[in-house]
Amino acid sequence: MMIRSGIVFLLCLASVLGKGYENFKIYDVIATNQKQGNVLFELSKQDDYDFFILPRILNQTSRVMVPPQKQREFLRILGKNRMDYNLLNANVGKTIEAEFAANRKPRTWNSRKLGTERYHSHDDINNYLDVLAEEYPSRVFVKKVGKTYENRTMKTITITNGDGKANKKIIFVDGGMHAREWISPAAVVYVIEQLVENYEENKELLADYNWVIMPVVNADGYEYTQQSTSNRFWRKTRTPYKGSLNRNCHGADPNRNFDFHWMEEGASSSPCSETYAGPSGFSEPETRVVRDVLTSIQDRCKFYLTIHSYGQYLLYPWGWSSDLPETWKDLDEVAMAGYNAILKETGTIYTVGSSTNVLYVAAGASDDYAFGVNNIPISITMELPGGGTMGFDPPVSSIDGFVKETWVGIKAMGLKVIEKY
Ligand code: ARG
Ligand code: ZN
Repeated sequence: MMIRSGIVFLLCLASVLGKGYENFKIYDVIATNQKQGNVLFELSKQDDYDFFILPRILNQTSRVMVPPQKQREFLRILGKNRMDYNLLNANVGKTIEAEFAANRKPRTWNSRKLGTERYHSHDDINNYLDVLAEEYPSRVFVKKVGKTYENRTMKTITITNGDGKANKKIIFVDGGMHAREWISPAAVVYVIEQLVENYEENKELLADYNWVIMPVVNADGYEYTQQSTSNRFWRKTRTPYKGSLNRNCHGADPNRNFDFHWMEEGASSSPCSETYAGPSGFSEPETRVVRDVLTSIQDRCKFYLTIHSYGQYLLYPWGWSSDLPETWKDLDEVAMAGYNAILKETGTIYTVGSSTNVLYVAAGASDDYAFGVNNIPISITMELPGGGTMGFDPPVSSIDGFVKETWVGIKAMGLKVIEKY
C-alpha cells in the first residue's frame, strides 16, 4: 500500500514538473519585407506567441517561443507568407529540466563558500552572509532589514575595512529584483566574496567607503522560480492580485513599483501583466525595504548599482523619460569605466546610455528613484549577458566566467566613483 502510493506520488510530481514548457519550441524567423514584418507583429500581439526578440528593422532575426497547440498554425502562417525559419529548440521543457538537474548538485559542503558551480537558494545565500559576519566580526555586519510578502527575511551585508570610522561614504548594490534573473544574485554574491575574502587585493575599494549589499531583493519570486521548472521564468513578486474577469494573478514588477513618476510610462496597470506596476507605488514590501535602506543611507551613498539580466547594458537615468539628467556626463563616465574594464578583460561589449534612449522607457524603477529622490549622484542598472533557452538561464557552466567578468566591471566603476566623490 505504502509503496504503491509512493509511486503514484512520484509520477504525479514528475508530470507536474514537466508540464511547464513541455513541447514548446523556439524559432528564429527573418522578415525580409514589410508584409512579413507585419505578420510577425500581428502574431506578437497574441498572448500565446512569446517573442524574445522582435526587431523593428527588416532582415534581422526575430525569436519566438510557440506553445504546442499553436505549432501547426504557426508553420502554416510562415508557409503562406513564404518565410524561412530555423528551429532553435524543439522542446523547451526538456532543456529546462536538464538545467534543473545540472543545478541540483549539492554545493560543496566541505567549504563554507558558496562557489560558482550552481545557483544558490535564498536561504543558502542568507546563511552565507551570517557565516561571513561570524568569521570577520570586525569588518562585516549583517542586518535584518525587513520581510518579503511570504515572510522571508531580507538582509543587508555591510562590508568595511574594520577601521571603525563612522559615517563613511557608501556604495549600495542590490540583486535579484527580478526573480528569473538568477545570474544576478550569483554575481552579487561574488562581489561580496571578493570584498570580504579577497580583501588585500581590493582594499582600496574599502578605504573611504563601506559597501552595503542586498543580494536577493525579490526572494519570494526567486524561490518560486526554483520550485518547479514550470515557474522558471517568473519575474515579479508573489503578492496575490485580482486581474480582470476576477482572474487570480500574482505579483507586481518591483522595478515598476518605486514611487517616482510611478505608472507614467512603460508599466502596466493590469495585475496579470509581466510589468504590472502594483496597485500603488511601493505596494510591495520588498520595494519598501529597498526604499527604506536607500533613505537611511542617502546622505552618504554615492553609488547605487542594481544588477539585472540580460542584454549587456550599463543603464543610467532617466528611464521614465528620454530627457538626460543635467549630470549625465558623470553617470556616463562611471558607466564607461565599467564598459572599458570589461572590454579589456574579456572582449565582451556592453551598451552604455540612458535607459530610455538605449533600451526602452519604463518608469517606477529603482535606479530613477535612487537618483531622483535620494539624490545619489551615480545610479546604474547593469544588465548582465544572457544565456540558455530564454536568456535568463545561462547554464551553470557559465556562472563562473560571468560573475568574474561582472566583478571586473563593478570594481572599475567603484574605483571611478571613489576617485570622483
Ligand atoms: N530591464 C530593466 C527593467 O525592465 C531595465 C530597467 C532600466 N531602468 C529604468 N529606469 N527603466 O526593469
Ligand atoms: Zn530585470
